[in-house]
Amino acid sequence: MDALPQHLSVRTTDGTATFSPRELRELRDDFQKFLLLYQFGLREVETKLEILRDEFQLTHDYNPIEHLSSRVKSADSLIDKVVRKGIDADFDSIRAHITDIAGVRVTTSFAGDAYRLFDLLTQQDDITVREVKDYIARPKPNGYKSLHVIVEVPVFLSSGRVDVAVEVQFRTIAMDFWASLEHKIYYKYEGAVPDGLLAELKDAADTAAELDARMQRLHGELHGPRPSRVFAI
Ligand code: GTP
Ligand code: MG
Repeated sequence: MDALPQHLSVRTTDGTATFSPRELRELRDDFQKFLLLYQFGLREVETKLEILRDEFQLTHDYNPIEHLSSRVKSADSLIDKVVRKGIDADFDSIRAHITDIAGVRVTTSFAGDAYRLFDLLTQQDDITVREVKDYIARPKPNGYKSLHVIVEVPVFLSSGRVDVAVEVQFRTIAMDFWASLEHKIYYKYEGAVPDGLLAELKDAADTAAELDARMQRLHGELHGPRPSRVFAI
């Protein structure tokens, strides 16, 4: 049987780089540690949202969160994004430029609850808000609605504190239903969605928005109205 190669050559933009098996393992371990940090950040944010949900249930006998989901970007899609954005492939540059490595999605019944949870999370004094995109107040031209925020949350390791970026998307069930179908259609047509279908999607987004407004109004008749909010993007 052939002996395993002692060194592995990798083609880079500057030529060829050669790694020993030990260096390759170190690189793999560093990458795993890097992604683990985002897993920790995710857990911190998830716990905060779960606490808000459970406390709300107890004190107001009402659950503002229908569904909570989260994911850390896979190594493959992270690498794809680094290449697509043309950024340097070192950890500092990735940390600075790619802010959706950790993502949490909060699905609520009503738009008012999306804003209320946004406020309750972002006002916590260990949370730093890096960026807000309010696609509920200002939907995307295709009809996409959602409230996005990139927060930084502290994670305490044996080596000290690290602030980790987590993208949180707040949206109603109707907005979520629309976004997941639109995503599948976009994926199926590889971005080249026929005009007729785009128009239908936009129409469906308007219908979903009408349903949201109606449900919020009916809900308001039960619990009393809440002031609406608008954010600057
Ligand atoms: P990305 O590079 O895709 O992360 O976009 P961005 O950095 O400009 O951020 P943006 O806040 O616009 O979008 C972040 C995420 O929101 C995306 O990764 C999707 O999960 C979701 N999103 C944004 N726009 C759309 C849309 O038109 N349709 C659907 N289905 N999801 C969207
Ligand atoms: Mg993004």
